[in-house]
Amino acid sequence: MDLTQEILALKHARNAVILAHNYQIGEIQDVADFVGDSLGLAYHAKATAADVIVFCGVHFMAETAKIVNPGKIVVLPDRDAGCSLEASCPAPDLEAYLTANAAKNYYVIAYINCSGAVKALSDVICTSGNAVKIVTQAPPERPILFVPDANLGAWVMEQTGRKMDLWQGSCYVHVEFTRDSINRIKADYPAALVVAHPECTQAVRLLADEVCSTEKMIAYCRDAPVKDIIVVTESGMLHRLRKECPDKNLIAGPTERCACADCRYMKLNTLQKLRDCLANLQPRVEMEESLRARAELPLLRMLEQSR
Ligand code: 13P
Ligand code: SF4
Repeated sequence: MDLTQEILALKHARNAVILAHNYQIGEIQDVADFVGDSLGLAYHAKATAADVIVFCGVHFMAETAKIVNPGKIVVLPDRDAGCSLEASCPAPDLEAYLTANAAKNYYVIAYINCSGAVKALSDVICTSGNAVKIVTQAPPERPILFVPDANLGAWVMEQTGRKMDLWQGSCYVHVEFTRDSINRIKADYPAALVVAHPECTQAVRLLADEVCSTEKMIAYCRDAPVKDIIVVTESGMLHRLRKECPDKNLIAGPTERCACADCRYMKLNTLQKLRDCLANLQPRVEMEESLRARAELPLLRMLEQSR
């Protein structure tokens, strides 16, 4: 039996579902039951009837699945699959900031790329796919604190006109794209359109024809009236795009140092580790119940508000 067959047999035996983010390696995407962005994955995690959720992504994504599924076993192939955005906003720092600024009575909107403890301190969660919708529904009389991604927050402010105070976190992958690196690839493909993730800096977003979540990139590329499209996000995205848009020439956006950008956390997951976590049902995501319950409220509010 090859690894993929072993994974499928174990999945059946465990009554498990395999959820994978768009940045996972191609082999993992191909064996998954659902591949998508953070929003689609959150909906799938909430809706699944499986007993075991195998989350191929990074830790905060698997933790989100656990928050909405306390009774299920949630495993991830590599426990060390973190996220620089999550790391940029430790819950004690956010708590101290909120205490010091209690008079402001902030409405806290947390991008889903954060820990369960940060979610528990927030009023509502958002993803890159629904951030504009969520911010638009925030109470107009309250100042907003947006955590942890300052680039996504700045983009949402541009889109909505709503002023927000921004936590100064960033994605270490997306800030590697620069105006010069994107201008150089545009010069090589003068007819190309550019699609970029909102975690990119403003200088890069300004060069893009479309700024959107990874899921929305699929429809954008499929419907684009041109063949060449420069995709400014993590390299795993290209696998799914090439599968779903076979008639397009999809070009990885380069950084100053590399022809494409890999997230070292997303790339910790391998087929072998996926097989092992299904076989051993480890490593598991566990959460203390009162923290889980507090983190669930803003997540459910997000799912409700983004319908
Ligand atoms: P999406 O929700 O757009 O897939 O983004 C998740 C992410 O981690 C981007 O770096
Ligand atoms: Fe986090 Fe950036 Fe990796 Fe996405 S690409 S998981 S935001 S470090």
